[in-house]
Amino acid sequence: MDKLVVEGGNRLKGEVTISGSKNSSLPILAATLLTDRACVIKGVPNLKDTNTMFKILKSLGKNIVFDNGVVTVTQAKASDYVADYKLVSTMRASFCVLGPLLGKLGKAKVSLPGGCVIGVRPVDLHLKGLKALGADIDIEGGYVVAKAKMLKGAHIYLGGEYGSSVLATDNVMMAACLAKGKTIIESAACEPEVSDLGEFLIKMGARIKGLGTPIIEIDGVRSLHGGEHTVIPDRIEAGTFIIAALITKGDVVIRNVVVEHITAVLDKLKEAGATVRTFKGGLRVSFRRNLKAVNVTTLPYPGFPTDMQAQMMSLMSVTKGVSVITEKIYPDRFMHVAELNRMGARIQREGPHAIVQGVERLSGAPVMASDLRASACLVLAGLVAEGRTDISRMYHLERGYENLEVKLQQLGAKIWREKG
Ligand code: UD1
Repeated sequence: MDKLVVEGGNRLKGEVTISGSKNSSLPILAATLLTDRACVIKGVPNLKDTNTMFKILKSLGKNIVFDNGVVTVTQAKASDYVADYKLVSTMRASFCVLGPLLGKLGKAKVSLPGGCVIGVRPVDLHLKGLKALGADIDIEGGYVVAKAKMLKGAHIYLGGEYGSSVLATDNVMMAACLAKGKTIIESAACEPEVSDLGEFLIKMGARIKGLGTPIIEIDGVRSLHGGEHTVIPDRIEAGTFIIAALITKGDVVIRNVVVEHITAVLDKLKEAGATVRTFKGGLRVSFRRNLKAVNVTTLPYPGFPTDMQAQMMSLMSVTKGVSVITEKIYPDRFMHVAELNRMGARIQREGPHAIVQGVERLSGAPVMASDLRASACLVLAGLVAEGRTDISRMYHLERGYENLEVKLQQLGAKIWREKG
């Protein structure tokens, strides 16, 4: 199994272009199940997760051609309605085929996604929303079996203990597109990736209002046609590169960024003293002065994203002062704390908080990636640590960052893969 090796100490300089959003691509690809017509999705990153979604779509009757970021999805054979355990268990986001299968075929059998190191990740909101649309849902042998003669529009409150849910909103919105009558989703997720999915559905003929707000209204239509769409840039990849530039005291121009999608991240970094200049389609981060510690609390969009929490922790671990990082979406998402501490960070976890005492320097160490964003945080720490950091289980990174090591090398980082 490959590992990633980082030798710290180089300031990053140059330009990098952000790839299309993983979290937009996955539900948008799933939405192609709502039609038998051809769909063309552009800007799709070549990642383990997008490739898993291709396999799932193929197993459900689609043909996929993937060429240079452009995915053409056509109907290859009669649609199947069973999403296999082996595929769904490798990627939680595959659960978002449930809504479109149910909407299009009136039945769906989708394996329950497994546990996950970032904590318990239930699907109760997905099921609540689909039940409200009239689906009968049973759990049989580890599968969710959903059936409905006809889905009917409904008024649905989708808020949960931790706020709104991105993929539950996606699932219910997709199913509601082909339901009879009007659906109103209250406490809908406002994340840009949900809006991006909605924009694609509109291109397919869906009637949706309120995207980007907590109340989404969908007027059901009889059928959807094909569509062409370009996914939005990946805001989490953009945030990760901003922190890479800051943590190495570098000077980096980051292109293909929708700056409005990362307002909360930029606001926090500016509070810490970072110099970030934005321009149309991108931004420049350049080192001017040492940063100061800031407190961070993750929240649903437009708040500070949980998917940037680990990377922010790397930055705070080498920033003078004390920072309290509070995780409000996944209170157990702190697997990276122990690994950062192995590198000399001083972080103490207290329930949903991590108290980070900034240190002068980190030192390279063998560390283990536990999940996608935790791996990114270890790469960032490695970029600034003295000596060599060996990150095992790098397959987590391949799930969500397109060509990460190549992009970092082009900015001057010493980073490479090794066997073992
Ligand atoms: C999506 C993102 C993931 C990100 C997360 C939160 C994709 C493919 N993944 O995941 O990268 O970290 O949003 O921004 O887009 N919850 C329930 N019941 C449910 C569903 C969720 O209680 O039925 C809880 C979750 O445990 C969590 C919170 O709601 O505490 C938000 O999770 P959710 O937005 O659903 O995350 P995902 O959509 O799975």
